[in-house]
Amino acid sequence: MIREELFNSATIEGMLAAPGIKWHRDPPDVIPLWLADPDFPIAPEIKRALINAVQDEDLLYSDDKAAREAMAAKIKRVNGLDIAADNVMITQGVIPGMWLAIQYACKPGDEVIVTDPMYFPFFIAVESTYTKPVYWPLEMEEGYKFDIEVLKEKITHRTKLIFVCNPHNPCGRVMTKEELKGIADVAVDRKIPVMVDELWEDIVFDDRKHITLASLNPEIADLTMTSWGFSKTYGVAGLQLGYLCATNKDMIEDLRKRARGVLRGASNLSKAAAPVMLDNTLQWWREGVMKHLYKIRSLCEKRLNEIPNVTYPKLEGTYLMFPKFDYKMTSDQLQEYMFKEAKLSFSTGTEFGSRGEGHLRMCIATSEAIINEVFDRMEKALAKLR
Ligand SMILES: Cc1ncc(COP(=O)(O)O)c(C=O)c1O
Repeated sequence: MIREELFNSATIEGMLAAPGIKWHRDPPDVIPLWLADPDFPIAPEIKRALINAVQDEDLLYSDDKAAREAMAAKIKRVNGLDIAADNVMITQGVIPGMWLAIQYACKPGDEVIVTDPMYFPFFIAVESTYTKPVYWPLEMEEGYKFDIEVLKEKITHRTKLIFVCNPHNPCGRVMTKEELKGIADVAVDRKIPVMVDELWEDIVFDDRKHITLASLNPEIADLTMTSWGFSKTYGVAGLQLGYLCATNKDMIEDLRKRARGVLRGASNLSKAAAPVMLDNTLQWWREGVMKHLYKIRSLCEKRLNEIPNVTYPKLEGTYLMFPKFDYKMTSDQLQEYMFKEAKLSFSTGTEFGSRGEGHLRMCIATSEAIINEVFDRMEKALAKLR
């Protein structure tokens, strides 16, 4: 198969024959759009690294220095932070970093800034640590812009952490340098730590550039924890591999201490696969994914534009679209209706906060054939409501 065709190769039958919860949670006649797993195969270089690790019997207790060194080299090269392996911590995916950041910055009752909407595990991290979420609203009608004046109004003497997700799930925004600078200025001025989730850094459209918040200046770097991972670009969520970095030595040491005995990093197999995903080996993959996603994005836009009473934010980054449906139904009702009537399973918009009302979130990282089938079903089901 030609390399580019890899990304457009998914069929319903093929996905049902493959492992993974996305295609197996619901009955087989349902097309899943709810989970942010791509319907792409696994890069041969990643498979080879995993097979080699098994053949080398790399399954004993081991350290994580080599993987952290590869991570530090990537962070220097791609994210512009001048750091060493000691500034990096391996986490079991990106999500534990959210919990760890709260442990570092907050006591129960302290306030944490989260956007509304936002990827829901940020809310779970707040809930499970008895801290208090303070919602920074983002409005679709305003292009989901990050209004720094609104952020300033939300800060109180109890604000101890700002959560940032960039590129943003589910709004599909890629923050501008001005927006990032605005957040950095507020954080530095009030000495508030920031945790940034940059998991989607590779999935950025048009002439936008992903900018790492901590790279703006040493003052904001000193206050920032940044997390990355591999699950979205390479479809390897099952490796449960992420990494967190802080240029501030005291901060990373504190984080490491808090994690000790609770978070054990990642498995040897994940660590063995990390280097090929961090250096230039898979540049062809990253380019291929984006080339395909441009096609899928414009197909989704064309099909959404043809459906009455649907609006959607322009997708600047991620492969998650977040359309809004004006069909006099709540998100929950619409999700249920689509499931029963169209055999499509979406995430409800309100999973991502109250401003997700009326929206459904859909993962579009699949083939053109599957996306066309999705919209055929969606169109037919929505026509019955008019
Ligand atoms: C913004 C964001 N952060 C974290 C995650 C979870 O990633 P992982 O499974 O690699 O921890 C996701 C998954 O979709 C996500 O969208």
